[in-house]
Amino acid sequence: MSKIGLFFGSDEGNTESIAQRIAKRLGEDVVDIHDIGDVTQLEFLDYDKLILGIPTWDFGQIQSDWEDFWDDVEAINFAGKTVAFVGLGDQFGYGDFFLDAMGMLHDVVIKTTDNIIGYWPTEGYDYDASKAEITLGAEVAGKKLFMGLALDEDQQPELSSGRLNLWCAQIHAEFGLDTPLIELDD
Ligand SMILES: Cc1cc2nc3c(=O)[nH]c(=O)nc-3n(C[C@H](O)[C@H](O)[C@H](O)COP(=O)(O)O)c2cc1C
Repeated sequence: MSKIGLFFGSDEGNTESIAQRIAKRLGEDVVDIHDIGDVTQLEFLDYDKLILGIPTWDFGQIQSDWEDFWDDVEAINFAGKTVAFVGLGDQFGYGDFFLDAMGMLHDVVIKTTDNIIGYWPTEGYDYDASKAEITLGAEVAGKKLFMGLALDEDQQPELSSGRLNLWCAQIHAEFGLDTPLIELDD
C-alpha cells in the first residue's frame, strides 16, 4: 500500500489539529503527517499521494513555514502525484482574503500535475473574495468550487467534523483507497 503524505504548516495549531483529524479518518497507518517546518523537498518525493494543509495569514499571505519552504515547493515536480488541499481561514474576519494561501499553493502545484482531487463546494460559506475559488466551465457553467477542503475554525468550528467526514470520503474514493474509512464525531 502506498501511503499518503500529509504536509501542513500551522501558526496556532488549528491546521495541525485538522491534520490529525484527517489521519484518524483515513487511518493513522495510511497517513504520514509532516510539519512543513521540519521537512525538506526530499520528503515530498517519497509520496505519490499528497494532502497539503495551509492556513492563510496576515491579509492573504502564506503561513510562515510554507513561506520559508516556498522556493522548494516551486521546484518540486508533482508529475505522477495526486494532490489534495486543505485550507484554513476566517471568512468573517478576513472575508476579502478567505483561504487565499490555499489558492496560491494550488496554483504552484497545478503547474506540474493535473491530478488534483478534493475540490469542494463554496456553498455554506459567507465571504467576499478568495483566491482559492475556481469557476468551472462548459457543462456546469458558472459553478464555483474551492480548490480543496475549506475549514473555518474561527467562525464555523461546529461544521468541521461533518465537513471532514464528507471530504475524507470524497478523497478516499478519488485516491482509490481500499483501506477502511472511519467516520467520526469530533
Ligand atoms: C492576524 C491574522 C491574520 C489572518 N489573515 C487571514 C486571511 O487573510 N485570510 C483568511 O482566510 N484567514 C486569516 N486568518 C485566520 C487564520 O487563517 C485562521 O485562524 C486559521 O485557523 C489559523 O490556522 P493555524 O492555527 O493552523 O495557523 C488570520 C488570522 C489572524 C489572527
